[in-house]
Amino acid sequence: MAKTTDPVALNNWYVVAALSNLAAGQTHRTRLLGQDISLRTGADGSPNCAEIEAGQPVREVEHIAVRYDFVWVCLGRPTQDIIDIPEIGDSGRRYIQRGRIGVATSGPRIIENFFDLSHFSFVHTGTLGGLNVTEVPPYAVDVRENGELWATECRFFQPKASSASDEGAEIAYQYRVPRPFIALIYKTSPSRPTDNDIIGLFIQPRDETDCIVHSFGLMWNWKNSDAEMLHFFHEVFAQDRSVLIHQLPKKLPLMPRREIPTHSDALSIAYRRWLDKSGLQFGVDREFAKSA
Ligand SMILES: [Fe+2]
Repeated sequence: MAKTTDPVALNNWYVVAALSNLAAGQTHRTRLLGQDISLRTGADGSPNCAEIEAGQPVREVEHIAVRYDFVWVCLGRPTQDIIDIPEIGDSGRRYIQRGRIGVATSGPRIIENFFDLSHFSFVHTGTLGGLNVTEVPPYAVDVRENGELWATECRFFQPKASSASDEGAEIAYQYRVPRPFIALIYKTSPSRPTDNDIIGLFIQPRDETDCIVHSFGLMWNWKNSDAEMLHFFHEVFAQDRSVLIHQLPKKLPLMPRREIPTHSDALSIAYRRWLDKSGLQFGVDREFAKSA
């Protein structure tokens, strides 16, 4: 497909690379919103981005920035700033970039799966959930004054909440969805139960049903090596990925009538309404909803 014409999608910022993965003088080709792009770092280390047609750069991308050691691009006119994550840069937590993983589905499907509490026991058995405790206690959902969607007061018993866990624990969760293709989790830190670890997903939608997931962890974890932390994350995300690539329709239906929601879906329902209200067309299925 060609570059989307959806202004809501175009006017958002997206992570397209980790800055440290861009070798000086090398060109990194990737794709965003149906548009091939190339990234290249200049002599001063700052990246440039161009849209590519027939293998040739045809237009310099005006809106490019580096934040949190990720490279962000907006192919339209940004209507909002890149999200603020004040905890990055705080002393204490360890910041780790977790690489990029391709997933052949829409961005909204990936975000929805990320905050779905009810799949823990069945998809992440033994780590994020156990088959003996599958019920999701009620939680609160709200849209904040700044437009962000939040779920709070989520709790779940997890046998192994992170690579730093020594034993199972009741984990408190908050979910923050500041943009349609970005979500963050704040969850009780197993090694510092009075505080939380933060995990963020930045979705780079290559096309409507093909994405790259960039992510980071901000953890009270100084005992595991990077490799151990990445191994835990990859084990969990490989389980999510195997579910995600089989979900149909791949574009997220905004007003599903085929599925019967339960209270554990409160955030999912709110997310679909929030996307509907935003006017987003890219990666969502509005026709399916009508025909369902
Ligand atoms: Fe999951």
